[in-house]
Amino acid sequence: MDQLTDFLRQMPKIELHVHLESTITGWLLERFAVRQGRTLPRAPEELYHCSAEDLSDFLGFLDRICSYVGTTADLAEAAEHFSAACREENILYAEAILNPTHWPQFSLPDIISAVTEGFDRGEAAGGADCRFTLSLSRNQTAEEADALVSAMERCRTPRLAGLSIDGNEALSGRTGDRFAPAFARARELGFGLTAHAGESSGPEGVLDALECLKADRIDHGVRAAEDPALLERLAAQRVPLNVCLSSNLALLYRDPREHPLRQLLDVGAAVTLSRDDPMFLGALTLTEELRRAAVFARMSEAELLRCQEIAVDAAFCGEETKAALRAALEAFRSQS
Ligand code: ADE
Ligand code: ZN
Repeated sequence: MDQLTDFLRQMPKIELHVHLESTITGWLLERFAVRQGRTLPRAPEELYHCSAEDLSDFLGFLDRICSYVGTTADLAEAAEHFSAACREENILYAEAILNPTHWPQFSLPDIISAVTEGFDRGEAAGGADCRFTLSLSRNQTAEEADALVSAMERCRTPRLAGLSIDGNEALSGRTGDRFAPAFARARELGFGLTAHAGESSGPEGVLDALECLKADRIDHGVRAAEDPALLERLAAQRVPLNVCLSSNLALLYRDPREHPLRQLLDVGAAVTLSRDDPMFLGALTLTEELRRAAVFARMSEAELLRCQEIAVDAAFCGEETKAALRAALEAFRSQS
């Protein structure tokens, strides 16, 4: 193993932008499919060799993947498996995004309790401390958004960390006003707020996420680089940008040289690094994602560690958890 990979493997890691739907291995899905008396369309190891060329294709593909998860026990098992897989590469803390529109077979209360149970079991068995945000789709209505926040209020658990929104803004257009009331209510209830923006939307999507949704963090945010004044504001206000290089190179930028990761770092933006959709990206590990980012943007070890510290600051967890994560990062820094 080369020195950079070794450093990254051992570095305590924090991941804030990863969709639970895209973490379920083909082998696990095969097991779930068999329980339903179904078979996968392809062998487990080839399941994710899909032909998705753009975000819409990909989101449809995720719907089909999730349909193989037949019971809430399966969903809990998938969540538990994620926690265990994180720990294998020293991810200490992760916040997964789960979008209930991919899971029409389950009620909102059932989703919340199953994922909570899976993450509880995972951590109890030595896995990572995992939390989750529930995510709206950009094509939902204001009423559906309100219903999601009501379910979050009624069924709240310590693992449920916040409200997010994802989906395809290129198709939905600007929706900040539609979702502002639900985000405001989630804020009043004490949930963290994060929003996909600046991926399938340009800088205007990032601006809406800040001004209409009052998001604490932006998932992606890379297209803010198209507007220098906005980029400066994001950096000055230390708005965390949960950047996913490999995902962006697969779904967004035809020419890798257009990716602004180095520029974001240079202007002092609060960058964190995550995988977004690991199974779709060839069972991508966070270690490998960070290695690619390091090579692509010539990131130093200090910069890679700094991204972990920024992720701790941005995490939707209590101060006690943050203190433990900072101590682990400090211990690693002093011995490396
Ligand atoms: N849901 C899962 N992956 C996504 C992405 N890259 N953009 C928007 N929504 C998503
Ligand atoms: Zn995402």
